[in-house]
Amino acid sequence: MARMFDIAPLDATFGAVVTGVKVTRIDDATWRDLHAAWLEYALLIFPGQFLSRAEQIAFAKRFGPLEFEMAPISNVKADGTIRIEADNDDVVKVLKGNMGWHADSTYMPVQAKGAVFSAEVVPGEGGRTGWADMRAAYDALDAARRVRVESLTAYHSLYYSQAKLGHQPKRGSDYSGYGFHDGPVPRRPLVKVHPETGRKSLLIGRHAHNIPGMDVAESTQFLESLVDFACQPPRIYHHQWTAGDAVVWDNRCLLHRATPWDMTKPRVMWHSRIAGDPVSEASLG
Ligand code: OGA
Ligand code: MN
Repeated sequence: MARMFDIAPLDATFGAVVTGVKVTRIDDATWRDLHAAWLEYALLIFPGQFLSRAEQIAFAKRFGPLEFEMAPISNVKADGTIRIEADNDDVVKVLKGNMGWHADSTYMPVQAKGAVFSAEVVPGEGGRTGWADMRAAYDALDAARRVRVESLTAYHSLYYSQAKLGHQPKRGSDYSGYGFHDGPVPRRPLVKVHPETGRKSLLIGRHAHNIPGMDVAESTQFLESLVDFACQPPRIYHHQWTAGDAVVWDNRCLLHRATPWDMTKPRVMWHSRIAGDPVSEASLG
């Protein structure tokens, strides 16, 4: 049977724009096609969905249990005023942290499976979201590097990544503190095998540090060089948001980041985080 939606691949190694479907009204056959497209493209973009809170959560739950239902990613405070960038409070530091390439919740015991992410208020320019295809990056490595990364692991920590922005979490700040935990620092392989497709991808990004067997400087340099190599065309795509857009990405094989915008302008995004499978997304210990 024909697909019940239109799908247009992006000009990149991954990603597609899906139109002709309202994601809140998807029957089981359409869902199977959409899920298969998600595994293939890793990023699906749905323009003009204007999801309510309940609709976004319900759509996200089709992909699996949620790590959290819906968090604002926003420079607008609860009282409606815009956060002052120069105050550099913990929320501003988290928003700036998001501007480095990363995968979500790799610093948690179980990394995220993915996210449904939508735009409510967007600045006229900037404030894009970029994604990078770590399957294609792995495939593009030369043979020697591919062999090398295969045996390596790294630690992942939000303390590590946010410390670079001068963020030492404080009690009583507007940031919830999510991700700053006292448990063991997760260690993860640099090459992740996708639990549903079997494809290998590079698991790197700003939370990764301290590769066992390397000194700190060598590890930092090695990880930075991998991100620099990996996050290049044709493996990247940056989305200029229009209010009402929704996307779903696969956090098991993509990195993502925000791009800067004029922070005197409001940007209100909503993030529903799909939980990873404790079998395949747990840390090594
Ligand atoms: C996130 C994130 C990027 C953005 O919500 O996890 O990294 O563009 N967001 O806001
Ligand atoms: Mn993120």
